[in-house]
Amino acid sequence: MTIDAPSLSDAEIRKLVERLDRPIVLVGMMGVGKSTVGRKLATLLNLPFRDADDAIEEAAQMTVSEIFERFGEPYFRDGERRVITRLLGGGPAVIATGGGAFAQEETRRLILDDGIAVWLDSDVDTLVERVGRRDTRPLLKDGDTREIVGRLKKEREPFYAEAPIHISSNTGPHGNAVNRIVQALDQWL
Ligand code: S3P
Repeated sequence: MTIDAPSLSDAEIRKLVERLDRPIVLVGMMGVGKSTVGRKLATLLNLPFRDADDAIEEAAQMTVSEIFERFGEPYFRDGERRVITRLLGGGPAVIATGGGAFAQEETRRLILDDGIAVWLDSDVDTLVERVGRRDTRPLLKDGDTREIVGRLKKEREPFYAEAPIHISSNTGPHGNAVNRIVQALDQWL
């Protein structure tokens, strides 16, 4: 397995960060690695990392599963939108969002207006393999994981495609996705 060489020098990365006036927001399916990639990207850019699901859990003092179970998905989406609004207002940072956030019209609009959306994408096989490592996702509780992941991916792809940056992260270490994001940002900014 090869690891891409770092795409930019330290000086180039510093210049890139100086050009950033908004948060970088990772969107894409559950299991694609938004939190892992986001953390690494934030470290590389020396920016704060924020995980929207963690922030929702902190605000609600409940896990995402508990929120879904006790109050239902619409209530979760409402809290998710409010938390993401707050995170977007916090200046340059890397924000990882839950897989459904960018499929919500109002939340997507907020992210497109106030952040730089990066769609992190993998094929269904890779997603199924990765979501299998953790069983805390309420939307995968009832039913066949492959069927649900495949269906949600198909439904959500037109929304994810509205992100100005699209990065594939099928195989190889997450560090490769980080390098590709940095390269894409450098061109886009
Ligand atoms: C969801 C994805 C989860 C979490 C919630 C709903 C979704 O986040 O927000 O379970 O709708 O795809 P991850 O993408 O981090 O798993």
